[in-house]
Amino acid sequence: MAPVKNNAYGLGDTIVGPLLASMSEVSRLACVRVSEGLAMRTAGVRKPILNMSEVTEEEIEQLVRYDIEVTCWLDDSGDRIDRVAKRLGKPVPIHFFIDTGLNREGMPYTRALPWMKDLAGRPSVKVAGTYTMFIHDREHDKFQLKRFNQLIKDARNENIPLGLIHASPSFTTFYLPEARFDTVRSATALFGLYPDANAVSMADLKYVWKLRARIVRLQQLQPGETVGFGPNSQWINQRCLHYFQSAQPMAIQVLQ
Ligand SMILES: Cc1ncc(COP(=O)(O)O)c(C=O)c1O
Repeated sequence: MAPVKNNAYGLGDTIVGPLLASMSEVSRLACVRVSEGLAMRTAGVRKPILNMSEVTEEEIEQLVRYDIEVTCWLDDSGDRIDRVAKRLGKPVPIHFFIDTGLNREGMPYTRALPWMKDLAGRPSVKVAGTYTMFIHDREHDKFQLKRFNQLIKDARNENIPLGLIHASPSFTTFYLPEARFDTVRSATALFGLYPDANAVSMADLKYVWKLRARIVRLQQLQPGETVGFGPNSQWINQRCLHYFQSAQPMAIQVLQ
């Protein structure tokens, strides 16, 4: 699964989305804003798309109309889904998002089971997937994986459908192969970023961004001089890329 979030990290979701979708290695895409999902559909993406944020009832309706799967993690998700499904006359495809230790988003794993059972039992719901998100720490991620695996086991014992199981962002794809499940959910690695310096020897990634700017001023500075406001202005050896917003979209001064 290829997350194309935040306008594909600035590269343009309507360019990057179709490009990734055309690759056989990419089975599905994800986004974090309704507008991103809609933009990718309009740009011709036909593969499954998952929206990874909780959204309003109106947005759920919009997502379903564009054949985009919906993430659920709040206590009232089921009631909102019921109302949308009734209006649309069809069940809503959802992914359960479980918080196994991120403590930011997701239904806490400690009380997820009855919530999942309730949702899965509603005629308005079609369970398409179940996922969690790691905090990007080798030891902590192992704890999270343990919690997630236990929940999966408990859910299966209760015959709760889980759909596609996914968990791994780039960091975990590198460092915790047991967490790859049915698909990984790596984004930054797709764009050529390694999760850390140690990972560089583990894969051959191609960086897809380039810093390009017109040089607007060159200035020779004396040793010991600083650049810009405050005494702690940043120096990069003797060269400093000093950039600032201006009337122009972005002006960059290169000082040597
Ligand atoms: C829920 C979720 N899954 C996966 C990713 C992809 O993470 P990464 O870019 O580290 O691969 C993100 C991005 O932040 C995310 O929010």
